[in-house]
Amino acid sequence: MIDGKKVLFSGMQATGNLTLGNYLGALKNWLTLSEEYECFYSVVDMHSITIRQDPAELRKRARNLLTLYIAAGLDPKKNCIYYQSHVSGHAELAWILNCYTYMGELNRMTQFKDKSAKHADNINAGLFTYPVLMAADILLYQADVVPVGIDQMQHLELTRNIAERFNNIYGDVFTVPEAYIGKVGAKIMSLQDPTKKMSKSDENPNGSIYLMDDPDTIMRKCKRAVTDSEACIRYSDEQPGIKNLIDIYSACTGKTPEETVQEFEGKGYGELKPAVGEAVISVLKPLQEEFVRLTKDKAYIDSIIKENAEKANYYASKTLRKVQRKVGFPDRIR
Ligand code: TYM
Repeated sequence: MIDGKKVLFSGMQATGNLTLGNYLGALKNWLTLSEEYECFYSVVDMHSITIRQDPAELRKRARNLLTLYIAAGLDPKKNCIYYQSHVSGHAELAWILNCYTYMGELNRMTQFKDKSAKHADNINAGLFTYPVLMAADILLYQADVVPVGIDQMQHLELTRNIAERFNNIYGDVFTVPEAYIGKVGAKIMSLQDPTKKMSKSDENPNGSIYLMDDPDTIMRKCKRAVTDSEACIRYSDEQPGIKNLIDIYSACTGKTPEETVQEFEGKGYGELKPAVGEAVISVLKPLQEEFVRLTKDKAYIDSIIKENAEKANYYASKTLRKVQRKVGFPDRIR
């Protein structure tokens, strides 16, 4: 609790171009929850280097991502929007938690398996212990709730296990967090292969809608989306392409999938696809305009970075000091 409010933590990697999946699965829910909770939204740049990055490019992407959080509508005076690498407590707590996490647990992480298959030439220890850093991110702020897409559920479960294990040994040190998964949009699929999630790292750019895509590109990608030959708009696992388009449309318009199906009853794919395109454009256009405006205001963004790093450090150190005492590190002499 901070000032009588429950705490929310979430983050995104500054790797690749953000997709509509990131927006609908995470960012959109951050906006709805931001009034109710004391929120920490991190640009998790330390996670990004588990895969080789060009340093100048990473710096640029990290800043763009931080700006995008604000452009999406998160008020940086009320929400702590900051770079993970500006708070050394993340790495310090991650080290301690590494000593309370088992190799077997990390071996089971599907994202580790996927990423090590994809980057077979660079299976580094950071990639393996990545979920422990993620646990440290969350536990450092004593977060009650963590809004994420479905693909992060396994990491969230591990975080809960680590927190419970630690609490069982040392008493109530960590708040055990709950995942928050949105009703629609928690798993947006590729437009070209609806059995795969829409991903920043997809080689086929037509599979993903990027948050900075212009309206023509968005419309073209939606119209080219892979569907099926059923010629019927139903919300069914047997029609993954159509189901995905219904999800996107519903998440963008605030409707339920059932309402969307009703709206398109008796209509063809030729009507659904451009309607999805329009719905996506109407969500992304204001965000893009605000992003362009904000990037011009360097001094403002710099001030946010500075203030929020201080705020995050303040709360992070509180937890860290407590944990360090519990495990037996000597007190500091002041
Ligand atoms: P990342 O950067 O891959 O994704 C950021 C958020 O977007 C969600 N997401 C999706 N949701 C729906 N459909 C999709 N196709 C889709 N693709 C991505 C993700 O679930 C995530 O919520 N390890 C995390 C970042 C992280 C983090 C944390 C998150 C680091 N520490 C602590 C929460 C709490 C990641 O790589 O997310």
